[in-house]
This record gives sequence, C-alpha cells and structure tokens, in this order.
Amino acid sequence: MKRTKIIDLLARTDFGAEVNVKGWVRTRRSSKSVNFIALNDGSTIKNVQIVADTDRFDAEILKLVTTGACLSVDGVLVESQGAGQSVEIQAKSIEILGTCGSDYPMQKKGQSFEYMRQYAHMRLRTNTFGAVFRIRHNMAMAIHHYFHEHGFFYFNTPIITASDCEGAGQMFQVTTQNLGDIHKGEDGKVDFSDDFFGKPTSLTVSGQLEGELGATALGAIYTFGPTFRAENSNTPRHLAEFWMIEPEMAFYDINDNMDLAEDFIKYCVQWALDNCMDDLEFLNKMIDHSLLERLRFVVSHEFVRLTYTEGVRILEDAVKQGHHFEFPVYWGSDLASEHERYLVEQHFKKPVILTDYPKEIKAFYMKQNEDGKTVRAMDVLFPQIGEIIGGSEREADYDKLLARIKELNIPMKDMWWYLDTRRFGSCPHSGFGLGFERLILFVTGMQNIRDVIPFPRTPKSADF
Ligand code: 4AD
Ligand code: MG
Repeated sequence: MKRTKIIDLLARTDFGAEVNVKGWVRTRRSSKSVNFIALNDGSTIKNVQIVADTDRFDAEILKLVTTGACLSVDGVLVESQGAGQSVEIQAKSIEILGTCGSDYPMQKKGQSFEYMRQYAHMRLRTNTFGAVFRIRHNMAMAIHHYFHEHGFFYFNTPIITASDCEGAGQMFQVTTQNLGDIHKGEDGKVDFSDDFFGKPTSLTVSGQLEGELGATALGAIYTFGPTFRAENSNTPRHLAEFWMIEPEMAFYDINDNMDLAEDFIKYCVQWALDNCMDDLEFLNKMIDHSLLERLRFVVSHEFVRLTYTEGVRILEDAVKQGHHFEFPVYWGSDLASEHERYLVEQHFKKPVILTDYPKEIKAFYMKQNEDGKTVRAMDVLFPQIGEIIGGSEREADYDKLLARIKELNIPMKDMWWYLDTRRFGSCPHSGFGLGFERLILFVTGMQNIRDVIPFPRTPKSADF
C-alpha cells in the first residue's frame, strides 16, 4: 500500500479508508487489551496515534514497538475518540522496519540541550529539533521567494578565496601541503608555489566582494551560502561555520539599504507565522512563552533608526544612571551584545538600526562620511539576539577606497579586481549580510546558536 505522510493523513476525513504510514515511535502506552503508539515521520510536529488491539498481534512484535523503533503500519483511518487528535489508525498489521534498544540516546524526554548536542546525529528526531529544522527550511524558502519576487538574482560566490573581505584575519587556510613537511623558501617563509592554487588561500568569511561584482553587472543580487570564521568566540551567538545571506544592490544608498533590510526581515518572520504555526506553537509552549508575541511585534512595528553616536550617548547616560555593563562603552568602542540588547530591549523596546559607526571598527569597503571619522555602516539589532544584520553603503570613489586600503595595509595583489569596479563605471551601491542562524534563533526562540544548525562547528568541536 502507498505510504501517506502523517501531515497529509491528519488532514483526511475519509474514515474507513485503508492507509499505510511509516515513522518512528515516540511513545507507547499499553493496557491489557490495547496499545496506543504515537508515531512521527518528521513531516509535522504532530504524531499520529496508532491503536493496536493486543489480541490481534503477536506478543513478540509488540515487544519490539519501543521508543525510537521504526515501523510501517497498515490500518484503517478512524475518527478519534480521544482528545488532542481528530484521526487515528486502527492497526491491521505492523512491520518493524528497525528495532531500537534501550540505549537509544533520545529515549528520555526533557534532556538538556547540552546533553542532546553530544548526540547531534540523533537529536534531529526530537520534537524540538524537528520544529527548528522545519522552520529553518521554511526560512530558506522565504529568503529565495523574497528576492526572486523583488527581481534579485541568486548569485554564487566562491567558498575558496584569496581575499579577506572583512579584513579581520579570521580565516581558515586551505592547502594541500603536507603540514608535517611544509615547503619553506630560502627566506624561511612558506613557499606556496607548488601548493594547489599556487598561493595562499582560505575559506571565505563573506561573499560580499564578489557579490559587488555581481550587483554592478546584474543590478541586484543575493548570495546564500556557508561562510567560515576562525574567531575564537565561544558564545551562544557565534559559529565557526555559518550561513549568510548577502544582498548587494546597485543604485541603493544607505536609506534604501535600511528599507530593504527591514522589509526583508519582516517578510521572513511573517512567512514563519503564515507557514510554521504548528512548530511555532510548540516552541512557544515548550521553549519561550513570549516567542509568538515577539514575532508579531516585530512584523507590526517600525524599526528605530539612529546613529552610533546617538546610541552611544544613550548607553553612556544609562551608565551614569547606574546601569552596569560588563564591557566599557564610549565613542569609538565596538558595541558588545549587552549594549545592543540594552538599546533594543530596555531603551527603545523595538528593533533598532544603528548607522554611521566610527571607521576604525568597521571594514575598509564602507562609504566614508564627510566628517572623516565615520562610515555609512548599518547594523540591525534585534531583541534576544543583538546584531542580526551588518551592512553598509559601499565606498564608490576609487581614490578614497584605495587610500583606505593602503591605510589598513591590505595587500593590493588581492584587491585589484575589486578596485576595478570603481575604475570601470563605478556606481553608488549598498548591501548587507544576514546571519542565517541568528535569524533562526530569533524565529524559534532557541537560546544557543549550536541548536539551530544541524551540525555546529565551534572552537574545539567538529563532530559528525
Ligand atoms: O557583520 P558581518 O561580519 O558582515 C559581513 O560579513 C559583511 N560582508 C556583510 C555584507 O555587508 N554583505 O556579518 C554579517 C552577519 C552578522 O550581522 C551576523 O548576523 C552574522 O553575519 N555573523 C555570524 N553568525 C554566526 N556566527 C558568526 N561567527 C557570525 N559572524 C557574523
Ligand atoms: Mg558585523
């Protein structure tokens, strides 16, 4: 018999129909005469209840119906008498596709997330991770829809690169050299001439620089791919391998850029509300009781926009009034997540877009303001998260860009192709990067970024 997915089965009302479902046992309750099996196949957070009369089945088969076991069940679709579900299956035959012993690590309910991370290969089968990864998929779809509908082209930038976009020196090197026997030249430096690419290369920290080449040809592009940062940040917001969405647009100034960022992120959150309600309701109940309220709040309120300088003034006032921050805050300091969250959660109680940061704490490519001190940067700050988006208008002036590159000692040999965009038909343009996992953190209410990517990579951890 053809298998029905549980999500489709639960919507059916043709009682009496013969059906087949396949899935994994969540729980089993038994009395003398009847067994209730909750089966889940991942298509929805909801289980289907299988009713198996004890006298219809071999006791040896029923013994194998344990939490985690994989079953194929043939039976009749019936209207459910019990609360909590509208349909159930009266089982006629049960085939055990895969047994599951009592050492199954997801056996017990209510394990901590730390515990489950050790079993990241099995945690996918739990309600929480099922919900998170269905939502993650939906957010990827929302992103592609949004940009496609708005005339952006999906543009693939390289993962292996010879340039450091953010200039922060946090790159993972890529080499085929034997690390136990590195070639060194007479000057004692590593000789890359017979390495695979003939020069030092790394995993990209951002597709932006190549994205700008796309935008200044196709008009508006977006990337959506993995990025890598060898920053030794052991925080609930940082991964060494994360996914980033980077739109880049010709003829956009920073205000257009902010409008796009706000509209885009609201669209994604609304998509979750429209398409993921079963999973969101589960997370709202089990993980974070204010999740739905927060999501609805974000889509229905305008983000506050102010400059870094104004933001720092508010934070300094807070300190004067006795608020304690772990890290100092003053004009010129990089804002820590506690500062960003103070502005968002306590001061404005709304998402905030901060602009015009000091040039020293931002990347070389940002458009320089007249004041000579700040650049046309924009960070979107979110409740619970802090920075969710970072972007800017780009410096379109060849001479100014070159001067900044020299000031920061960025090697020209890596940058000639990038500078060519400013030599041949330069145009005003802007873009930003959304951290995909930070979006998923926000939309799911999960607390740790390691729990919104299937297989997290963090310092000292690359299992699975
Ligand atoms: O602010 P970032 O470093 O900006 C860029 O990379 C620009 N090239 C983007 C652009 O303008 N096209 O990173 C952008 C976003 C951050 O706001 C954050 O959401 C996320 O990427 N992010 C991380 N997410 C998880 N783990 C990390 N280590 C992250 N670093 C940045
Ligand atoms: Mg940033």
